[in-house]
Amino acid sequence: MIGYNSSRSLLHIIVASLGLIVSAISQAVPPVATEIGASAFAFDLSQVSLTSGRFLDNQQRTLTYLKWVDVERLLYNFRANHKLSTNGATSNGGWDAPTFPFRTHAQGHFLTAWAQCYATLGDTTCRDRAAYFVAELAKCQANNAAAGFSAGYLSGFPESDFTALEARTLSNGNVPYYVIHKTMAGLLDVWKHIGDTKARDVLLSLAAWVNTRTSKLNYSQMQTLMGTEFGGMNEVLADIYHQTGNKTWLTAAQRFDHAAVFDPLASNQDQLNGLHANTQVPKWIGATREFKATGTARYRDIASNAWDITIKAHSYAIGGNSQAEHFHEPNGIASHLTNDTAEACNSYNMLKLTRELWTLNPSSTAYFDFYERTLINHLLGQQNPADSHGHITYFTPLNPGGRRGVGPAWGGGTWSTDYNSFWCCQGTGMETNTKLMDSIYGYDSSSLYVNLFTGSVLKWTQRSVTVTQTTTFPVSDTTTLKVTGTGDWAMNIRIPSWTSNVEISINGQEQSVSATPGSYARISRTWTSGDTVTVRLPMTLRTIAANDQTSVAAVAFGPVVLSGNYGSTTVSSMPTLSLTSIKRTSTSSLDFTATANGQSVKLGPFYDAQGFNYNVYWAIGS
Ligand SMILES: *[C@@H]1O[C@H](CO)[C@@H](O)[C@H](O)[C@H]1NC(C)=O
Ligand SMILES: *[C@@H]1O[C@H](CO)[C@@H](O)[C@H](O)[C@H]1NC(C)=O
Ligand SMILES: *[C@@H]1O[C@H](CO)[C@@H](O)[C@H](O)[C@H]1NC(C)=O
Repeated sequence: MIGYNSSRSLLHIIVASLGLIVSAISQAVPPVATEIGASAFAFDLSQVSLTSGRFLDNQQRTLTYLKWVDVERLLYNFRANHKLSTNGATSNGGWDAPTFPFRTHAQGHFLTAWAQCYATLGDTTCRDRAAYFVAELAKCQANNAAAGFSAGYLSGFPESDFTALEARTLSNGNVPYYVIHKTMAGLLDVWKHIGDTKARDVLLSLAAWVNTRTSKLNYSQMQTLMGTEFGGMNEVLADIYHQTGNKTWLTAAQRFDHAAVFDPLASNQDQLNGLHANTQVPKWIGATREFKATGTARYRDIASNAWDITIKAHSYAIGGNSQAEHFHEPNGIASHLTNDTAEACNSYNMLKLTRELWTLNPSSTAYFDFYERTLINHLLGQQNPADSHGHITYFTPLNPGGRRGVGPAWGGGTWSTDYNSFWCCQGTGMETNTKLMDSIYGYDSSSLYVNLFTGSVLKWTQRSVTVTQTTTFPVSDTTTLKVTGTGDWAMNIRIPSWTSNVEISINGQEQSVSATPGSYARISRTWTSGDTVTVRLPMTLRTIAANDQTSVAAVAFGPVVLSGNYGSTTVSSMPTLSLTSIKRTSTSSLDFTATANGQSVKLGPFYDAQGFNYNVYWAIGS
């Protein structure tokens, strides 16, 4: 089909046979601008695939939904708004209902998820759905004159919403740039990962519309406009700069630098209390993209201070943050254990930020310690494994006797549905579950980084090497990495801060390599095809105390937060857990028993706590 980079696999073969070392070569359309300040890199999605296990199961359920959903229904609001026929399609409910203020935010997530599905699996159904969708969006955009919109505009709601935004007369809850960000990010991913040139054209027209509109506003007007949630406008515009090398987009990105949030962070002050959490995190990701575009240290400081502050003073044991979608007082953890904790979008965005910051400072294991904690304990279990379409929960309740898929009605009060929710967290959940492999490995000029322990195959085409990781981690504490191919390079293995007495062997021979928890163990070697590295990361029981109340804690085994299974029993106050009573009951699963409030309770991985009332934070007794 026209518009696809059909030479992609051929390119792989040529690169593999020459053994060239070229970064980002595997992306269907490689970026033009080089990234300033990055000393390590992520692999392209096309280079890593999951093998069987808990992660692949999640991916499979999301893919089933992505390939099943009726694309005509997803086009309804775009076509209606741009005055084209809706072709008899049914309109959606929830946040994509024809009257919902920020309708069509979800479609950008679909575009990204389809693009990721194609990038990692070469799945042509996902590719064709993305290409069809983009072609239909192009028709909407082309009808702007008839619809009374300016050139380039593309949305499910009228352009006059932006006039109202600029005049500060917009109705509460309407977030037009938030939606435009999602649409742009989706189009960019379809261009980058599929090579669809129509996606590029629609994207650059929409970006030009943003540029024209915002270039007419002065600094104080822009700052005022940013008092409303606007997603990652600085992020996506900086990304378009990286992709095209055209500085117009960088200038436009910098217009979305939100001083009220950036200034305190630049001087490392925690002024997050009271702010809507997910409104902020995308701006910080944008700051890393702007640092990589400009080399201006202030951007890096804003992002890295924001990361430190959020991890240290605003994050629960499962890695999530926020209560009722907001940041609260620093260290307010035990004081905020309710049924609307840990909005999933925030964690999705924090993981994006973590990945960006790691590339600037790859010798620090703090980044992937957090990534592992949040991916395993929050996002993996956000999806309902009993649902073949992989529906998700918006919040992850941390109140005593909480239950996933339950929460305030405005956050769903249930699991997401096929056509009647389309919440923000449903969109980011589709992205998460189609890129579960994207951060397992990284590389620099001399090394491979093994950041996460997940069954997967890495095609390190730049070196003609394949690495096959086999593990049931975190159920097992051991992983093996088999290298196929040869060469001189180092394997840097993250040694998590939660472990001790690590064992590393190669081809069965124990190695005396330094493997201090909280560092990367480095194995420099001339690799022989078939070399197999075995890493054992012993796990023990530990507590993760609430910052604001040392007698309140979650319990973890290695990286895995454990929760109590209370079935359908109501738990009205925080149970007291006897720490000495905790016993593992199986060597092949993470099943434990314990005594809480004098009664026996089963403990298991929180990522598997769906369909029953659970408890995560306990009053700690001996
Ligand atoms: C920005 O534009 C507004 C609206 O035209 C105007 O009132 C204000 O004085 C301008 N601010 C500056 C600093 O130019
Ligand atoms: C950069 O993009 C702008 C906006 O679309 C365009 O006017 C300009 O010609 C582009 N510059 C280059 C060098 O391509
Ligand atoms: C969530 O908690 C609030 C406050 O305690 C309560 O009023 C509400 O009913 C709860 N919602 C659900 C769905 O459990």
